[in-house]
Amino acid sequence: MGLWSTKSMTELQTEVSSEEGGGLKRSLGALNLTLLGIGAIIGAGIFVLTGTAAAQHAGPAIVVSFILAGLGCLFAGLCYAEFASMIPIAGSAYTYAYATMGEFVAWIIGWDLILEYLFAASTVAVGWAGYFTAFLRDYLGIQLPAALTNAPFEVAAGSHLPHATGAIMNLPAVLLVMLLTGLLVLGIRESARFNNFIVFLKVTIVLLVIGFGAAYINTANWVPFIPESTGSFGSFGYSGVLAAAGVIFFAYIGFDAVSTAAQETKNPQRDLPIGILASLAVCTVLYILMALVMTGIANYRELNVPDPVYVAIAKAGPALSWLKLFVSLGAIAGLSSVVLVMLMGQPRIFFAMSRDGLLPPVFAKVHPKFRTPWLATLITGSIAAVVAGLFPIGLLGQLVSIGTLFAFVIVCAGILVLRKRRPELPRPFRTPMVPLVPVLGILSCGALMAGLGFDTWVRLFVWMALGLVVYFGYGRRHSRIGAAAGEAGAAQGSVADLGLGK
Ligand code: ALA
Repeated sequence: MGLWSTKSMTELQTEVSSEEGGGLKRSLGALNLTLLGIGAIIGAGIFVLTGTAAAQHAGPAIVVSFILAGLGCLFAGLCYAEFASMIPIAGSAYTYAYATMGEFVAWIIGWDLILEYLFAASTVAVGWAGYFTAFLRDYLGIQLPAALTNAPFEVAAGSHLPHATGAIMNLPAVLLVMLLTGLLVLGIRESARFNNFIVFLKVTIVLLVIGFGAAYINTANWVPFIPESTGSFGSFGYSGVLAAAGVIFFAYIGFDAVSTAAQETKNPQRDLPIGILASLAVCTVLYILMALVMTGIANYRELNVPDPVYVAIAKAGPALSWLKLFVSLGAIAGLSSVVLVMLMGQPRIFFAMSRDGLLPPVFAKVHPKFRTPWLATLITGSIAAVVAGLFPIGLLGQLVSIGTLFAFVIVCAGILVLRKRRPELPRPFRTPMVPLVPVLGILSCGALMAGLGFDTWVRLFVWMALGLVVYFGYGRRHSRIGAAAGEAGAAQGSVADLGLGK
């Protein structure tokens, strides 16, 4: 019975007010949140994965892939915004699911979000390490040993199991995660300032690439716009455009990170929807322009490299060589801000799950002086550092994408459930055209999931199975809401009470 218990709206709102004074510090406004979103969004997706996706799947039509993936995110973002304005507390999609679909679904999504936040922090740290290592080599003449800059495990094409590469670990990636974890323990306000600065730098560099690069576009590179399919699914042609959309979906991940900062937001009902939608809109426009410039300057076949933006600019010739250093620095700064936001989001989800009893109480400890969930931050940072040190970017990136898409599907479904069961609840922001928008969200995110490979699906299932073991081994027995429902009897915890309780 406890499996299907939902958290009541009253309870959620009491949690919000009980946070005043003793809990997390409320210091963020709409602009901060938008910058937080942009900080989380622009990263390894555009700086690393765009090139591979164009070279292997879509060609210049990668622009269309960006539009497709952006549409899926827009539908999901509109659903996120309604939830975030209605349930403005930490925990993101986890909390929304707890309020609408019950504890079990909430656990599933909370566990799934670990894939999104914690593993994304590791993924982007690996992408960052690539640019950082190249920067040391090209500009400072420092060559780090390959054994300390590569993943010790790799999955070869055509194989399902990882094999050893001979490397020891990706040391720069590990050090970055450790450094940012320390910063987050010290406090959200300091971290947000740091983030604002880096976002400014990153967006400026993206704009410089677009602005200056546009003059060097050779329109012949856009022909054929959709290269002819090679015959196998996902290799150019229309299916290639879809497959590329699945790959570069990663580039959009992060706008929902805004919602995890709900309890540190001054006016969450107004500012969360603004933060989510504004950051998504800004990045979509930048991505489309960036993809046009990159595939316009260089032929898409030349972009199959770990640093495609850098390579595209280099193609423009000596006139733009000054921009290469900025691209390098922009990628290094930009990717570190993504890792920062992801490392900030995860502990706040742990915090919410722990407060509900689904995870041990240590995850909900707030530091008396810094007022940050410091233990959860340290645990997150330690695991993310280990994962970043051991695995390659391709494997991690696809796992993050499938996990995030799964979360988006559940959030869209949650809007449908809640509109039906609790139509009277105040919604400071309403998802437009319900049920069309959530249904399109479910379909488009589902299609992007279908584009990801079989191995990624298997990894998702293994991860979720592990989650079930943890839930039935710990969470279900310690759940606060489930226990209360058990005592109060069927009226409180029954399936019939799937709406927001009393
Ligand atoms: N969207 C983020 C990136 O591209 C995760 O790095």
